[in-house]
Amino acid sequence: MTLTFDPVRYKDTTRAQWEDAAAAWHAWGPTLEEWLGEATTLLLDAAGVTTGSRVLDVAAGAGGQSIAAAQRVGDAGAVLATDISPAILDYAAAAATAAGLTNVRTRELDGERLDVDAAAFDAVISRLGLIYFPDQPGALAGQYRALRPGGRISAIVYSTADRNGFFSVPVSIIRRRAQLPPPAPGQPGPFSLGGHGVLEDAFRQAGFRDVGSQAIPAPLRLPRAADCVRFERESFGALHQMLAGLTPEEQEAAWQEISTELARFEGADGFEGPCELIVGWGVK
Ligand SMILES: C[S@@+](CC[C@H](N)C(=O)[O-])C[C@H]1O[C@@H](n2cnc3c(N)ncnc32)[C@H](O)[C@@H]1O
Repeated sequence: MTLTFDPVRYKDTTRAQWEDAAAAWHAWGPTLEEWLGEATTLLLDAAGVTTGSRVLDVAAGAGGQSIAAAQRVGDAGAVLATDISPAILDYAAAAATAAGLTNVRTRELDGERLDVDAAAFDAVISRLGLIYFPDQPGALAGQYRALRPGGRISAIVYSTADRNGFFSVPVSIIRRRAQLPPPAPGQPGPFSLGGHGVLEDAFRQAGFRDVGSQAIPAPLRLPRAADCVRFERESFGALHQMLAGLTPEEQEAAWQEISTELARFEGADGFEGPCELIVGWGVK
């Protein structure tokens, strides 16, 4: 059997899986913000987000980084939070309202087809989104177009699998059990932009200048390994997508093995799952 990558089918299943995972991604929000907080601050700094900025958030999810951006830009600025999943955007809109913010709008948009006015934004941000796009060069071309000259892009991606055990362990167990081939270069996946210089090269190829990046250690700390399993099982759309071809019993067996393996990262002080993020940036 030859497994070929079908970008249209992949996009449909991505949307469906994130529609399903939306409530859980939102519910795990406090964990997400604690885990990703330092990298998110650098993301906003690197994108030059400041009072009055007009910010485009691509693959905004439940809006954690959109809210942080909106708080920075204040009433003089605005944030457009976009995502392929309308259900997850509903949580972003509700979170903005709950935070008393009136400068956040949400819009269902495929990040590879950014139907926004050209040069309308001062900053484009994307946190753990670009990695899942089948056409990353096309997506970056759209983000470039959306920025005004001098506007800044910044994105957060995972670095390499060997530095992200909290996620690469489940991915490799599921890949083996579901007999999925390793992703070919250029295909989407959690570590697709994680190699040394890969994100910077992608930015340069899209036309950005003054490109740079910084690795940020971001261990995922939770009380127990079982909490990490629950976090990923409930809310990681990418894992759901990989598991889709297995029967419920096979999926259960995969999660059992994942639980056993992630227990390696639990010690006397709780669970600390290895994770390294890369924050990359560039200027139009
Ligand atoms: C790991 S979540 C990150 C969400 C959010 N940025 C955060 O950090 O909390 C990935 C998000 O990418 C979105 N996504 C995946 N493919 C997309 C696409 N082609 N266009 C727009 N959003 C997409 C998913 O719906 C999901 O909300």
